[in-house]
Amino acid sequence: MNENPNITGTQFCLDGKTVEVFPAPGVRLSQVLREELGARDVKIGCNAGDCGACTVLLDGAPICACLTPAQQVAGRNVETIAGLYKTDNTTQALAERFQDMGAAQCGICTPGMMVSAVALLRENPTPNVRQVQDALGGVLCRCTGYRKIIDAVVGTAPVARDDAGIVGDPIRHIDALNKVSGAQTFGDDIAPMGTLEIFVIRSPHARAAFQLGDVDAFVVNTNGVEATLSAIDIPGRNLFGVIPQFVDQPVFAEAEARFRGEAVAAIIGTPEAIRNFNPATFPVTWTKLDAVTDVTSAQAAGAGQLHADRTRNVMCGGFVACGDPDAAFANADVTVEGQYNSGFVEHAYIEPEAGFAQMDGDRVEIHACTQAPVMDLDALEAILAMDRKKIRIIPTAVGGGFGSKLDISVQPFLALATLKTGRPVRLNYTRTESMQSSTKRHPSDIRLKIGATKDGKISGFSFYGEFDTGAYASWGPTVANRVPIHASGPYQIPDYRAESKGIYTNNPPAGAFRGFGVPQSAIAQECLFDELAAKLEMDPLDFRILNALKNNVPTVCGQVFSQGVGIGECLESLRPAWDSERKTATAFNVANTTLKRGVGIAAGWYGCGNTSLPNPSTIKSGIWADGTVVLHQGAMDIGQGANTVISQIFATALGISTKLLKIVGPDTDVTPDAGKTSASRQTYVSGNAARLSGEALRASILEKMNVANDATLTFDLGVVRATDITGTYEFDLASLNSDAEGFVFRAEETYDPPTKPLDENGQGIPYAQFGYAAHLVVVEVDTAFGTVKPIKFVAAHDVGKAINPMLVEGQVHGGIAQGLGMALMEEYIPGRTENLHDYLIPTIGDIPPIETIIIEEPDAHGPYGAKGLGEHVLIPTAPCILNAIHDAVGVRITKVPATPARVRAAIKANA
Ligand code: FES
Repeated sequence: MNENPNITGTQFCLDGKTVEVFPAPGVRLSQVLREELGARDVKIGCNAGDCGACTVLLDGAPICACLTPAQQVAGRNVETIAGLYKTDNTTQALAERFQDMGAAQCGICTPGMMVSAVALLRENPTPNVRQVQDALGGVLCRCTGYRKIIDAVVGTAPVARDDAGIVGDPIRHIDALNKVSGAQTFGDDIAPMGTLEIFVIRSPHARAAFQLGDVDAFVVNTNGVEATLSAIDIPGRNLFGVIPQFVDQPVFAEAEARFRGEAVAAIIGTPEAIRNFNPATFPVTWTKLDAVTDVTSAQAAGAGQLHADRTRNVMCGGFVACGDPDAAFANADVTVEGQYNSGFVEHAYIEPEAGFAQMDGDRVEIHACTQAPVMDLDALEAILAMDRKKIRIIPTAVGGGFGSKLDISVQPFLALATLKTGRPVRLNYTRTESMQSSTKRHPSDIRLKIGATKDGKISGFSFYGEFDTGAYASWGPTVANRVPIHASGPYQIPDYRAESKGIYTNNPPAGAFRGFGVPQSAIAQECLFDELAAKLEMDPLDFRILNALKNNVPTVCGQVFSQGVGIGECLESLRPAWDSERKTATAFNVANTTLKRGVGIAAGWYGCGNTSLPNPSTIKSGIWADGTVVLHQGAMDIGQGANTVISQIFATALGISTKLLKIVGPDTDVTPDAGKTSASRQTYVSGNAARLSGEALRASILEKMNVANDATLTFDLGVVRATDITGTYEFDLASLNSDAEGFVFRAEETYDPPTKPLDENGQGIPYAQFGYAAHLVVVEVDTAFGTVKPIKFVAAHDVGKAINPMLVEGQVHGGIAQGLGMALMEEYIPGRTENLHDYLIPTIGDIPPIETIIIEEPDAHGPYGAKGLGEHVLIPTAPCILNAIHDAVGVRITKVPATPARVRAAIKANA
């Protein structure tokens, strides 16, 4: 409705219907589509034209709705993914191909990708790869690695099969349809239009004292502002954190802000008041203080201490030692040493943190994107000082997480705001706000020395790494603990010492990011392995295979696996490509002077689940009286495919098709805790809980029916049938009493990995299983400009058992894309790269073809032998790229990202 007589109506055609809106000049089309016309299928990732998530068609051409003033579409035709999916044959066919290729993971980029692809396909029904890359180049995806999207648009033969969906079947993501049709609702898609909004006041300085002024007067004097929030509004503990001994981050800073972007207060107001709010009018005064922004100055005598209970800003450390590395170095025929550095890496999920909250009687209900709903509940219980029974967490779909959405973000602001106002509220971080305040990959400063005897065996390994954990601990202690366990790589190293430290600085908190510090340590270890092989005049692949960990050989923690160690096979599987690609590169280099090609390899391993700590998952399932098979699946699917994989495992254990399952997702009121989606644990840990639940459910049904254990089960309206060699038997489910949840049969089972604590030397059983990986890459280096272009990847992964091979490939592609970004372009610098045009992530044109080799060395603990995969996939990527650069041009890059400037400088210095 037009309330302003100076604003005239804008009529346009939206998905075939004429609509009229009254936007003020300059109001974004995306705003009008989402908040006035309800087109929440148009996603917002940046509001700056960088990510392309909001792409719609305007008169058939793709445009960013966030950059287009709504008044400019008067009289024109706007199409969105939801409308196209309903009526357009090209879109419907493309949606099928997206599902058949696994081209939508989290799905937040999918509307923009598909809309852009539809525009291309209307003009050119048979595009080639280059044409697809050009047409979709304006849309970013952080999950898929793009290759499956390209395959879907080009029309490559489907990967998914219409199978029953038991273990091993490459079925579609079971939740893919919502993603390709625009129906998926993420954190900012839940709130009704007109809901009160929150604006968070944040520190403009890395370190600053501050004082809030008269906020009551501010509320009274500011139209549309209903209330403010600050530390005094927190009824419970103004602290949160994920590791019990390191709960050190305030919801709202008190007196001093410790990093740029830290929250100090918030205002709650109408959408219009929030949209027009000028932060300069908020009553806060800042006094900038000296900040420590690197680990060296943070540990210097006299440096400002971020937390009074720590010395020289050292948060904590980790340590693993075995044998006698000093004696081994003395016996070594060759040694190598080096210092390797990496910077902050931003998660850059396309969905900024977002959510909605409302009161339900005296209960508070939070709908937000998260990787850990029960941890969110734990945190809110302490912050709100409320009985946890009065808090309900209902996660929305998650538009990418990669570790950062393990930490709370919008949740306490939403809860406090709805409690204070009694009204529904919403909060959607801006891209800059997300990048300023969310956790990052830890910058690292690593010194490493490795020795070897002339027969090629490693003789001595000494690692020391400092990790910048920023202003607060977050998952820093986990990084400090994990790195010394993993810094060896998947190799036999009898004489070993690894020490790590997490250091507080006035930088944004560093936390969990796909690998928990292992990708950083792998860079140093795998690059020095190449140096060592060169000194020994050994082939780098042979050197790795010679030293690869094997069954019945202790790890550096003294853990001995009698089965399941698949790194040797991963490495061996690269040999054909290693031999052929090096020949091709040699021939290329003979024929070219400015462009040089190189081939690199690297390996990695990763322990699945928490380090030497309990991390149980519980899965509940049951049968309703009408024959419905219900699976309460509480493992957050953040695009990786937990909904699909857990369902396949459960269906296999029960002995039915996944198509028969009714999935009930995470909800702290009704679905048991399947733990956090982190540490590559869901396939392994929640998968085992699902297997146990399926097996228990099956056993109770067979027992009731008194039929053989190998009987085939089928469910029909109100009956279950069991068929064994003696015949088919039918059981009337209505003859049983239903419980409070309607179940006539039910099974709730828990699995917790068998680990043991580490002693003071890091000896013990940190993980029940590891997964293994080896990558090969061919790169082309432009020696004149220092640019590095990956040409091809071959990635071998030991996943124990591929529960769904298509999803395995999807994880591999996505991990490689993130590893490539870390290696070549990504570096977050507070105050300088707080958006997606200054902070670069790989685009569709940056990812070369990826050949995925699936190795299945079964693990005795894994469900049907399966191992976790999520983190493993980017651990070898960056070092194999650095090794390939060295192979191409003979320079060793020791600081990532290997930007053109750094590569060119190294080439010049080496000339
Ligand atoms: Fe593309 Fe997640 S599927 S951003």
